[in-house]
Amino acid sequence: MNNFSQQTAIITGAGTGIGFAIAKALVQQGANVLLNDYDEALAHKAAFAIQQEGERTGQCEACFGDASDVQFIQFMVDTAVNRFGSVDIAIANAGITIFGDIFTTTPESFQKIVDLNLRGSFFLAQMAARQMRAQQRGGSVLFMSSVVGHQAHPGLPVYSMTKAGLEMLAKQLVIDFSPLGITVNAIAPGATLTERTLDDPTYIPIWSRITPMGRPATVEDITNAALFLIAPASRHITGQSLVVDGGWTSISPPPV
Ligand SMILES: NC(=O)c1ccc[n+]([C@@H]2O[C@H](COP(=O)([O-])OP(=O)(O)OC[C@H]3O[C@@H](n4cnc5c(N)ncnc54)[C@H](O)[C@@H]3O)[C@@H](O)[C@H]2O)c1
Repeated sequence: MNNFSQQTAIITGAGTGIGFAIAKALVQQGANVLLNDYDEALAHKAAFAIQQEGERTGQCEACFGDASDVQFIQFMVDTAVNRFGSVDIAIANAGITIFGDIFTTTPESFQKIVDLNLRGSFFLAQMAARQMRAQQRGGSVLFMSSVVGHQAHPGLPVYSMTKAGLEMLAKQLVIDFSPLGITVNAIAPGATLTERTLDDPTYIPIWSRITPMGRPATVEDITNAALFLIAPASRHITGQSLVVDGGWTSISPPPV
């Protein structure tokens, strides 16, 4: 499949987990991907692994740096243009989770979460869309939200606030982006198996029990939703948030 040939994507926080899976799938389907992570070794390792894939028709290049740093975000856009000639897809995937309730949250941890989850996503959308506007052929922006942007979860007051904010931002940007042919959407994953979540040995049994579909999501489940929303065929879908959670947020705890 070459659904994304001639397109260039920037994906933040893609050295591992969901972002890496999306990057791999996009390169397999013909896109050129600038793969960001703030872990230099991981960014290079991830891009190298994708380049080794036999099936791919696109290219992948590492770009290491902090996705919450506004100057670095502009550097990513410039690098994508210099290296591949355009920016057509921007995926603000990098996000940080720090657990703590309202009473234990410090101004420093609050700032760190907001800086990456909101500021990094906001300015990636802005700077990528400026480039798309100059190219005059539309594009797509995708935010990585979470089910906790819809449903409260213990210990995540700041994280959940930022994810709800991203979904509102997707609606808001419809006003500025639609006249330019740029779509902007969000994905809200539920519990998803990644290197990070697999660190917790109770993760699979607990989420398999409480998820109606009987298991947590795989990174491929989230990737399939992401590719659907950014595909050229979805050019009339914008301002939306797609929940991918195996049904978890559709139900409330039964009275047992
Ligand atoms: N995994 C889940 O269960 C889950 C559920 C809902 C939402 N999400 C969201 O999906 C996105 C990806 O989550 P994940 O679990 O796949 O990723 P993750 O937390 O495992 O991190 C992926 C990569 O992001 C990089 N990163 C962290 N801070 C960065 C920064 N400032 N700049 C650049 N890179 C940075 C890390 O080095 C890591 O390689 C996040 O926004 C997360 O909030 C994940």
